[in-house]
Amino acid sequence: MTAATDPVKLMKQKVGKAAADLVKSGSIVGLGTGSTTAFAIQYIGERLKSGELKDIVGVPTSFQAEVLAKEYGIPLTTLDAIDHIDIAIDGADEVDPQKNLIKGGGAAHTREKVVDYLADQFIVVVDGGKLVDRLGSVFAVPVEVIPMAVTPVMRAVAKLGGKPELRMGVKKAGPVITDQGNMVIDVKFDSIDDPVNLEKTLNNIPGVLENGIFVNCADRVLIGEVKDGQPVVR
Ligand code: 5RP
Repeated sequence: MTAATDPVKLMKQKVGKAAADLVKSGSIVGLGTGSTTAFAIQYIGERLKSGELKDIVGVPTSFQAEVLAKEYGIPLTTLDAIDHIDIAIDGADEVDPQKNLIKGGGAAHTREKVVDYLADQFIVVVDGGKLVDRLGSVFAVPVEVIPMAVTPVMRAVAKLGGKPELRMGVKKAGPVITDQGNMVIDVKFDSIDDPVNLEKTLNNIPGVLENGIFVNCADRVLIGEVKDGQPVVR
């Protein structure tokens, strides 16, 4: 199978394009992080280049999103220069039926949370494999922690019933370092019954900057699926 025929890649492309098509001229756009959102950024850039879309400005949620936006010619701004975000497009690692999310597979959930919560409209782009009945079914909750607090935070999340693991980088050469210079602890819970409270409880542990549970934030979830061998979006 080549990249051009990989059904998962084709599905991500399709869902990214569907999200990019929702962006209107004159908008301030939150640009998410991850392989699905990367396609949305690419298509927003293509719509700008063709002249179909005009006068938009992006707010990147990570260094990765910033680099991609520059590559595809999307002008960027910062939160200091604007007073609102019209639409944000971002991926997720798990989505429950209430549109609550686990994010942070790319260690970018802290900036993503700031941007996605500020948006008037937050569009989530995922493939169907990310849908779960209950958050935590498959994915661990990423928790960004300042480096000196890694050990006490690991003890504290274990007391809450989580199984913490410090996220390591490629070839386990060292811990993953976030755009803020921090580390990420992935915390696996058997089941998350109350995501609203768990989000607050985790963020109350001293040394925690932000966790990847996003509640009451997503407005719309675009889901990519493969039907009869063809990628479709619902
Ligand atoms: C990064 C994220 C990503 O949006 C999430 O991991 C989904 O990524 P992908 O579209 O590559 O599956 O939260 O921190």
